[in-house]
Amino acid sequence: MHGTTLWISQLLSFIWISTSFTQAMSSSPSSSAVQRILVTGANKGIGKAICERLLTEYGDNTHVILSSRNEELGKQAVEDILKQNQQIDKERLQYLPMDTSSDESVQAAAAKVQENGWTPLYGIINNAGVSLIASQNLFFQ
Ligand SMILES: NC(=O)c1ccc[n+]([C@@H]2O[C@H](COP(=O)([O-])OP(=O)(O)OC[C@H]3O[C@@H](n4cnc5c(N)ncnc54)[C@H](OP(=O)(O)O)[C@@H]3O)[C@@H](O)[C@H]2O)c1
Repeated sequence: MHGTTLWISQLLSFIWISTSFTQAMSSSPSSSAVQRILVTGANKGIGKAICERLLTEYGDNTHVILSSRNEELGKQAVEDILKQNQQIDKERLQYLPMDTSSDESVQAAAAKVQENGWTPLYGIINNAGVSLIASQNLFFQ
C-alpha cells in the first residue's frame, strides 16, 4: 500500500473510533473526578510509553485504559508497567482489547467501556497505527 493511502486510512480509522466513543466521552469533567484516558495500540512503543507517563507523571485521578489488538501482548504490557512502577495503584490501569482496523472490534470495545462503567472518558489517544520508519523499510526494501 502507498504511504499516502496508509495515512488516509489511518485518519479515517481515527475518525471512526472517535465517533464510536462519542457517547462515552466526558462533556464537562470536574478537576477531582477520575480522568480516564484510552490509549490505542499501547502494547508497545509510543503507546505503552504514553500510558506509563500518564500514570507516573499525572495525579492519582488520572486513570488509563491500555488497549491493544493482541490480548496477550496488551495484558503483558499492563503487567510490565505495574511491575516497573509499583507505586501505581493497579485500579488506575485497565486493559481493553481493540483492533482499530475492525469496525466490529471498535464497536465491541466501545460497548465494553460502557458496560465496565469506564465513563465518562476524559480523552482518547489514537496512537495505533504504523510507524513511518517501519513502513518505509517495508515499502522501499
Ligand atoms: N516512531 C516514530 O518515529 C513515529 C513518528 C511519527 C508518528 N508515529 C506514529 O506513532 C504511533 C506509534 O508509533 P510507534 O513507533 O510506537 O509504533 P510501533 O512500535 O510499531 O507500535 C505500534 C502499535 O500500534 C499497534 N497497532 C497497529 N495496528 C493496530 C490496529 N489495527 N489495532 C490496534 N493496534 C494496532 C501495534 O500493535 P501490534 O504490536 O499488535 O502490531 C503496536 O502496539 C504510530 O501511529 C506511528 O505512525 C511514530
